[in-house]
Amino acid sequence: MNDNISHWWDHAIGYMICPVSYQDSNHDGYGDLEGILSRLPYLQELGINLIYLMPIFDSPFFDCGYDVSDYMKINPHFGTIYDLKALIAGCHERGIRLILDLPLNHTSNQHVWFQEALADPYSPKRDYYYIREGKVVGNEILPPNNWASFFGGSCWERVPNTNLYYLHVFGKTMPDLNWSNPALRQEIYRIANYYLDLGVDGFRLDAVSHLAKDLSFEDSSKPANPDGTVDDYDRFSNRPEMLDYLREFDEHVTKGRDVLTIGEVGDFMTPTQALSLVNYKDGPLRMVFNFDTAFDNDSVDSFDKADDEIKTDVLSLKRNFMRWYDGLYGKADLPLYWCNHDGPRLLSQYGSTKYRDESAKMLLTILLFLYGTPFLQYGEEIGMSNLHFDRIDDFYIDDSKRSEVASWRKAGISDDKILRYLNRTARLSSRSVMQWSKQAYAGFSSRPPYMPLNHNYTEGVDIASQMADPYSILNFYQYAILYRRQALVNDTVMNGPLSIIDPKHPDVFAYRHDGPMRLAVIANMRPYTTYFSFYSDIKDIKLHNYGDVLFQDHVFTLRPFEVFLLILQ
Ligand code: GLC
Repeated sequence: MNDNISHWWDHAIGYMICPVSYQDSNHDGYGDLEGILSRLPYLQELGINLIYLMPIFDSPFFDCGYDVSDYMKINPHFGTIYDLKALIAGCHERGIRLILDLPLNHTSNQHVWFQEALADPYSPKRDYYYIREGKVVGNEILPPNNWASFFGGSCWERVPNTNLYYLHVFGKTMPDLNWSNPALRQEIYRIANYYLDLGVDGFRLDAVSHLAKDLSFEDSSKPANPDGTVDDYDRFSNRPEMLDYLREFDEHVTKGRDVLTIGEVGDFMTPTQALSLVNYKDGPLRMVFNFDTAFDNDSVDSFDKADDEIKTDVLSLKRNFMRWYDGLYGKADLPLYWCNHDGPRLLSQYGSTKYRDESAKMLLTILLFLYGTPFLQYGEEIGMSNLHFDRIDDFYIDDSKRSEVASWRKAGISDDKILRYLNRTARLSSRSVMQWSKQAYAGFSSRPPYMPLNHNYTEGVDIASQMADPYSILNFYQYAILYRRQALVNDTVMNGPLSIIDPKHPDVFAYRHDGPMRLAVIANMRPYTTYFSFYSDIKDIKLHNYGDVLFQDHVFTLRPFEVFLLILQ
């Protein structure tokens, strides 16, 4: 038994919002906080009770706000601190919690700390960042080491007219903060406390895995990329000091407050490592977001593959979800999600635009009844899918793609393949403009939005049409969420031991809970028919995405993306 489901987030259904793309209230083509406020009645009706907002702080927006230039100011496109206060109050009136994404691994190069650090070698701000002399080789000044950044190319950017470089593990406009500096850490605690005092219910802590670096800054001896840089992410991932920093953060910021902190650890952590961060006894964070189930098909680096060659790895998905369940159940809380703002749209990743309706409903059902706190990416509830562009340049709205495309070109990958790859995998798709209606600009704004719309908003992939259709994806979501939030169901999902049924079935994701209730989910993750043997006695079918049931002699015939939520005897 898991005795620890006493926190509000153990009863929460999260909903992730990209503020710039959700709803424009002041007709400038950019989404804003007032726009989100105006959509709270919708969100309440949908049934979610926890919102997570991507960064809302002032930013030059090279990385969708993850490049903060002033933590104490709201991005003017989004509004002011008063709009944030109104949004907090609006959420709380409706029983919705609000958490903010707080990127503390780096700032924008336009942050005043960084400006000061560059301008004055004696400024205390100099040590807020990693600024180092380049390596002199003959007549050349080269970066201090050969580490590659996540966004392609070197981790170091030269400071113009000097021999100095600064470290950036992400984009070159995002210098990394030096967490080994205690004065910097104090600044960070002040910022975090300010927002908690304002009433937000916690944070997603961006890129926490990378807070501590290998301060020797020695070259990596691993094999090099074509541009000479080396992907040796261990040099700045999950280093022991990270835990000390997070403990201190907890001590100064979150301890004693009923707030949720979710560290983003990407694919850099095993469940065992994660436990040191999130265990109920002394973990400094409440949860971590991992990436292990977000890319379980062969789309990563799939430049040579046609779209129909990409296949969901159902076996791996089951293993990965269960690995985290087995590692954390009874010891720590776990957030669940399929796809977030860093990957393609869920429907395009694991579902099918041909079977939009069936696959969207199927994917929700799997996620919702696994152990953990589910987080839905806005737009999933109507089956929004990837954007499709004809030019590589169109993807540069996400600036990180510039350096990535440059390194792919250096590696000899053709533009045709790069374009196909971007259409399949680019994270811009999951940040696309919310599709509210068939009206002009999808009801997002009265003006052309800052990024091109997905034209399927005129074809039924919009909130208004789906609200009016009782069989829509949206209505399925609403019904399923309402059911999932019932006390006994929640108790069963969070407490009832979870097991996979037929773990080796290559097409079907099926599991059961044996707790206060006995529940089973059976989901065909394929665009073709498959069969599934099932021997337990079925009391009721609670969710299903086809009009009739094909079940005979203990065998389900499961049509493309068919799913059941069953109540068992
Ligand atoms: C995180 C964010 C991602 C961002 C990166 C740098 O991984 O999720 O969107 O680009 O950090 O801040």
